Amino acid sequence: MKNIWETLPKPFFCLAPMEGVTDAVFRQVVARAARPDLFFTEFTNVSSFANEKGRENALSRLKIAPSDPPIIAQIWGKNPEHFSALASSLKDLGFAGIDLNFGCPDKNVNRAGGGAAMIKTPDLAVECFRNAKENSNGLPVSVKTRLGFSFLDEYKNWLSTLLKESPAALTVHLRTRKEMSKVPAHFELIPELLALREKISPETKLIINGDLDSRAAALELSEKFPALDGFMIGRGVFKNPFCFKKEPYSPSKDELLSLLRVHLDLYDAADSKRPYETLKRFFKIYIKDFPGASDLRVKLMETTSTAEARKVLNF
Ligand SMILES: Cc1cc2nc3c(=O)[nH]c(=O)nc-3n(C[C@H](O)[C@H](O)[C@H](O)COP(=O)(O)O)c2cc1C
Repeated sequence: MKNIWETLPKPFFCLAPMEGVTDAVFRQVVARAARPDLFFTEFTNVSSFANEKGRENALSRLKIAPSDPPIIAQIWGKNPEHFSALASSLKDLGFAGIDLNFGCPDKNVNRAGGGAAMIKTPDLAVECFRNAKENSNGLPVSVKTRLGFSFLDEYKNWLSTLLKESPAALTVHLRTRKEMSKVPAHFELIPELLALREKISPETKLIINGDLDSRAAALELSEKFPALDGFMIGRGVFKNPFCFKKEPYSPSKDELLSLLRVHLDLYDAADSKRPYETLKRFFKIYIKDFPGASDLRVKLMETTSTAEARKVLNF
């Protein structure tokens, strides 16, 4: 049977995993606005899952909403045994694949040896990858990473090391860890990444990430580089939650407000809820670019519950 990566269109478009953003509630909002071909969860720590105290929290991050499938579970950590343990549970939880986060630049994550810190410990990264793959019950295992930790040309060794493991897909955020998101993505390296993939693991799907803020922008890149398999959009969804629409699309004020209402409804209906405060980061997505928008946002920031927010919005 074909795995999920083999069934996607070419090119395909995915919503980037974003901690504190792409939880089950927001993924349903995006699905309602315009569905990407593939969703990812926020990253989940393998050692939390392995720990009795952390397991419940880990599992709550791995809840799948009805509109999610196909969805990939993204996991991170540095303990190879813990990668095995979590990987072995993901098929039963309903995931179509497992993605290993070897690119997160967060200081705490890196201090714990995970995310982009893996670029500096390639042997450990390979061990974690192999453990995940051996224990995945047949789910395809992919990797999301950056070009390097400190220097751009690290990509030659680092991505070669990963490609030698034949991941089902490799998503490259076109920056180093050191660059964070402060410089433009290095689109100029795409031909070299394609050549590496072709030479080492032609069956690995190559996904480009960084600064692509809409399907239309990604399609432009696809026309230039038709050998690329897929594109991942992250912050573009803040600019426009309809960014996965087939044609460039500017939603009206009413459409954005209706989507906010959907967001509040889904939040209220969710059984495992994050604190109300965490909802506030989303308001600017929906309330912008109309007279009075900033006053309305200020009022919403003062609310302490969805009931209060609904009152302010006359929902
Ligand atoms: C708030 C936030 C949270 C993120 N969390 C994750 C994460 O959990 N896993 C991951 O692989 N990348 C994470 N990222 C990185 C994005 O997936 C993506 O690589 C990055 O934003 C660049 O893509 P963009 O320019 O399309 O936003 C996060 C980014 C942001 C802005």
